[in-house]
Amino acid sequence: MEDKKFLFKCCSKVRKLVNLWEFLDHGTDVLKRHWETTYTFNEDILYNKKCVDIGIWHGICNAYALKKLKLQTTHGFEPSKDFRDICSKLCPDTKLYSTIDDLTDTINTDVIFMLGLIPFFGTEWKEQLDNILQKITANYIIIRHQTYVDAKEFKNKSTDKEYNVLGVTNYNQSAKIEDVIQYLQEKQWKLIKKHEGLDYKTRNVYTFQNDN
Ligand SMILES: C[S@@+](CC[C@H](N)C(=O)[O-])C[C@H]1O[C@@H](n2cnc3c(N)ncnc32)[C@H](O)[C@@H]1O
Repeated sequence: MEDKKFLFKCCSKVRKLVNLWEFLDHGTDVLKRHWETTYTFNEDILYNKKCVDIGIWHGICNAYALKKLKLQTTHGFEPSKDFRDICSKLCPDTKLYSTIDDLTDTINTDVIFMLGLIPFFGTEWKEQLDNILQKITANYIIIRHQTYVDAKEFKNKSTDKEYNVLGVTNYNQSAKIEDVIQYLQEKQWKLIKKHEGLDYKTRNVYTFQNDN
């Protein structure tokens, strides 16, 4: 009920930018699928903290997290201008950028979110992660990831979408979660929590702590 009220308020802020039914539908789905597994599950490290979100999309969860957990998303990265326009209405205090390459300074924060992001990095995932972690320092990283087993999963997605900035054409080229975990652990990011197994596509969430 509280989620519904929140989403109706969001609708009033973005009504000129979206199809309201689609927006409401997506928002309801996202909160239902991700709020518990990503945010409530990590409440101990998120409450009253600051975060940076790489792949912020519409920023619906970020706006909800500000309200429920006092979690401030200070910076968000999102290649799609349409998504950034929506996000700027829902998260007016978040500085938005297209990609990490547009960040000229460095950022120090509590938590970095990369939710459903790494598949978009294709075979360049290590270089992209290195680039992010050189520019943003944090105590925790929260990743939501699925390992795609079927290349055809890309079939229904348009490969020339504005947000497919690296031109990935096949999810088989993307990182497997075991490789991401190993890579981060080698860089002193210790896996401290995981929430996996409910739905391999959307609900696998991994929390890493900076061990340096
Ligand atoms: C699955 S969505 C993220 C969902 C959202 N953060 C949430 O609350 O669950 C992944 C997002 O990453 C964005 N993205 C794709 N490539 C990116 C890149 N190189 N840098 C930043 N964001 C990117 C996509 O446009 C998309 O909005």
